[in-house]
Amino acid sequence: MSKSAERVKTGIDRLDAMLDGGVPAGSSVLIQGAPGVGKTTFGLQFLYEGAIRYHEPGLFVTFEEFPVSLYRDAQAMGWDFKELERQRRVRVVFTSPEIFLAGLQAPESLIAEFIQDWNVRRAVIDSVSLFKRVTTDPVRLREVYHHLVNGLKREGITSFLTVEDRMQGMTLEEEGRLGYVVDGIILLRYVEVESAMQRALTILKMRGVNHDRGIYRFSIGAGGIQIHERFTNLEGILSGTSYHSQMMPAKKRGR
Ligand SMILES: Nc1ncnc2c1ncn2[C@@H]1O[C@H](COP(=O)(O)OP(=O)(O)OP(=O)(O)O)[C@@H](O)[C@H]1O
Ligand SMILES: [Mg+2]
Repeated sequence: MSKSAERVKTGIDRLDAMLDGGVPAGSSVLIQGAPGVGKTTFGLQFLYEGAIRYHEPGLFVTFEEFPVSLYRDAQAMGWDFKELERQRRVRVVFTSPEIFLAGLQAPESLIAEFIQDWNVRRAVIDSVSLFKRVTTDPVRLREVYHHLVNGLKREGITSFLTVEDRMQGMTLEEEGRLGYVVDGIILLRYVEVESAMQRALTILKMRGVNHDRGIYRFSIGAGGIQIHERFTNLEGILSGTSYHSQMMPAKKRGR
C-alpha cells in the first residue's frame, strides 16, 4: 500500500491522470499564466467539481474581479455559483490580501470561523500577484507567502493560487521565491502552432508526485477546461513560438 498523502482531484480528469491521481491533500499549487489564458476558469472548475463530484466545500477569494463578473464568468461555463453558495458548498469572498491574511491567522476571525463552520476543503486565491502590495521588502514578502501557504495547510485546505506570468514591479528573484514556497506549479501558456494560437498546459512541479512532464493542448468552452493531445515534435512551446522539429532552422537542428 502506498504511504503517499491522500490525493485531491482537481476534477479536470486528464489533469488528475497526469498527476497520478490528483494533488496531495493540503498542497498549495500555483496556476501561472498570461492574461486571459484560463487561470480563473481553472480555479472556478476546481471548486465547482469539488462541490458537485467530491462533496468538498470550497472558498473562492478574489482580490481583483468583482463577484458579479465572477458569477457571470462561471455561468458562461454552466456553473451556477449563486446556487452553490445558497447550498453552502462554495463561497465567494471579495476582499484584500491584508484582510484575508489577517483573518487566516486569527482563529476568531470571520474567515477562520467560516472555514471551520463550512468545513472548507478547497480554496482558490485569485490572484496572489496582489500580495506584493502588502510589502516592498522581499524578505517580508516571502514571509507573507509562507503565512498564506501555511495558514491554508493548517486548515487542511488544498489550494490553487493564480499568478500572472511576470508579476509587474517584481524582480525575477522575488518572483522565483513564490515558486519555492508553493508545493506545485502548473503553467498555462499561449503557443503559436502553424499560425494559430493555442493553449498549452504543463506541470512544472508537484511535490510528492511522479507527474507527467508532457506539454498538452487545452481548450476552454462550456464545461470549462478540457485537456487534449500532447504536443509532440514541437520545439519552443513554452517560449511561445513552436517549430515542427523537421522544420526547424538548420542551425538549430541537432543542437
Ligand atoms: N464560453 C466560452 N467558450 C470559449 N471560451 C471561453 C468561454 N468563456 C470564456 N472563454 C475564454 O476563456 C478566457 C477567460 O479565461 P480566464 O478569465 O479564466 O483567464 P485568466 O487567466 O483568469 O485571465 P486574467 O489574467 O485576465 O485574470 C477568455 O479569454 C476566453 O477566451
Ligand atoms: Mg483571472
